[in-house]
Amino acid sequence: MEYLFDIKARRLYNGYIFKKKQVKRDILMDKKTVSETMVEMRELVLPNDANIMGNLLGGRLLHWVDVAGAMAASRHANTVVVTAAIDSVEFSRPVSVGEMIVLKAKLTWVGRTSMEVLVEACSENYLTGETHFTNRAYLTFVSIDINGKPQPVPGLILETEEEKKEYQQALLRREQRLQKRAKSKGECN
Ligand SMILES: CC(C)(COP(=O)(O)OP(=O)(O)OC[C@H]1O[C@@H](n2cnc3c(N)ncnc32)[C@H](O)[C@@H]1OP(=O)(O)O)[C@@H](O)C(=O)NCCC(=O)NCCS
Repeated sequence: MEYLFDIKARRLYNGYIFKKKQVKRDILMDKKTVSETMVEMRELVLPNDANIMGNLLGGRLLHWVDVAGAMAASRHANTVVVTAAIDSVEFSRPVSVGEMIVLKAKLTWVGRTSMEVLVEACSENYLTGETHFTNRAYLTFVSIDINGKPQPVPGLILETEEEKKEYQQALLRREQRLQKRAKSKGECN
C-alpha cells in the first residue's frame, strides 16, 4: 500500500516537474536578438599553447574559436549544441606567447535546428594595448536533445543593417555547406 502511494506521489511530482519544464522551455523558445547571446572570451597565450617558435598553435586557436562559438549558440538555444561544420579558417598573423586572444562570437543565422555563428579573434598585447586582427570563422552548430537528436531553436531578431546583411550572406554559405555535405558523405575503406 505504502509502495503504491509512493509511485502515485512520484508520478504526480514528475507530472508537475514536466509541466514546469514545458512552460520554461516555451518561454525559452521566444525569439532572441543577436546582442542578447553574444559572447566575449579571453585567453592568455601560455607556453603550452605554442609551437617551437613561441607562437600560438593553430589547433589551439581553433579550439577556442569552437568553444566561444558553442557558448553563443548554447545561449541562443538554451540547450546543448554540437559543431556540425567549421568553414575554412585562415591565420593571418602569428600570435606570441604572453599575448591575449580576444574572441567575439555572435549568431548570424538560424534554421530549424541549426545556427550559424561568426567568431572573430584579435590578439592584444596588454603591455602596450596594441591589438591585431587574427582570424574570423563561421561555424554551424546544431541544438540537440537528451538523446542527441536535433531539436528546434528559437528565431533570431535582426536589429541592425549589418545583421540583416550577414543573414542574407549566411543563406548562401549554408547552401554551399549543404552541397559540400551531400558530396562528402562517404565510407571508410
Ligand atoms: C550535427 C548532427 C547532430 C546532425 O544530425 P542529423 O541526424 O544529420 O540531422 P539533420 O540532417 O536533420 O541536420 C540537422 C540540422 O543540421 C544541419 N546540418 C547538418 N550537417 C550540416 C553541415 N555539415 N553543414 C551545415 N549544416 C548542417 C542541417 O541542415 C539541419 O539544419 P536545420 O534543422 O536548421 O534545417 C549529427 O550529424 C552529429 O551528431 N554530428 C557529429 C557532431 C559532433 O560530434 N561534433 C563535434 C563535437 S561537438
